[in-house]
Amino acid sequence: MSDDLGLWLQSVTNRVNSELDQVLGSHLTSSRLLEAARYSVLGGGKRLRPALVYAAAAAAGASLESADACAVSVELVHTYSLIHDDLPCMDDDALRRGRPTTHIAFDEATAVLAGDALQALAFSVLSKKDRRSDAMRVKQLKLLGDAVGFTGMALGQATDLASEGRVLELNALRFMHEKKTGVLIAASMLMGASCGSTNSDSWKALAEAGRAIGLAFQIRDDILDETTPTKLLGKEQGRDQALGKSTFPRLLGLDNSLAEARRLVAEAHLALAQLDGDTRFLKYLATQSVERSH
Ligand code: IPE
Ligand code: IPE
Ligand code: MG
Ligand code: MG
Ligand code: MG
Repeated sequence: MSDDLGLWLQSVTNRVNSELDQVLGSHLTSSRLLEAARYSVLGGGKRLRPALVYAAAAAAGASLESADACAVSVELVHTYSLIHDDLPCMDDDALRRGRPTTHIAFDEATAVLAGDALQALAFSVLSKKDRRSDAMRVKQLKLLGDAVGFTGMALGQATDLASEGRVLELNALRFMHEKKTGVLIAASMLMGASCGSTNSDSWKALAEAGRAIGLAFQIRDDILDETTPTKLLGKEQGRDQALGKSTFPRLLGLDNSLAEARRLVAEAHLALAQLDGDTRFLKYLATQSVERSH
């Protein structure tokens, strides 16, 4: 890992953390609901999706400032999805980011509502006038909406739950992983790029890279669930097997799953090589999505 890239990642992580802290400030009126939202959003997390926003913005020649709203909004949506994913009616998890999950630290209804409110806030933040043109804002609202709704993350999560106790074949498993995780990751990159300028070939290449990175990221998540101790993972090891989830390691084994994730990262690097702008950060994050320890 190059020191420069590590420093860059640290700086954009700090940047989005401070933006998130402001967006979830007391101007929203203090309430138990807001407290639960702040607990969930500000209590850790790798901030991969915001980093992808900033990295794609850099590749498209856009400033960090112009990408802030997109970076914040994808993390708000991601955190909402984690709160709901952990609920007893979904994965029934008690530990997240090294702390009790939101419904344990607060209560179930508050967790549901905190997720709802975070999702709404994401779109509100994205719609706000700033350095982005109106056309950019509208495009980004649609990118995010499409990524998380009936054809995106929610569909993926529904597929995941419907597949418990069954072994999906490879294409169905790919579909589920792309939907539940991949589309938000790909949308983060496209949203970042849309803060600057990209031609249609670069846009297609970015979408292709995003698809590959998103799937690779979820394959790695499946692997980590089996191999990484709870303490390091920040969530309970072995939950996928306990819940009878369809995962890559279950279907292909650990070694083949890792090989597949690395093949996807190589595919992402090839796609990114087609872009004209500065793709160092995107390539670094593509690698990190698989070569990570938690
Ligand atoms: C976990 O995402 C859920 C998946 C989509 C696999 P992350 O591994 O990015 O979780 P945080 O944000 O770092 O906690
Ligand atoms: C979660 O996938 C995907 C979303 C939250 C949309 P997982 O259920 O595998 O995520 P973890 O392992 O609980 O973080
Ligand atoms: Mg889940
Ligand atoms: Mg889960
Ligand atoms: Mg998982």
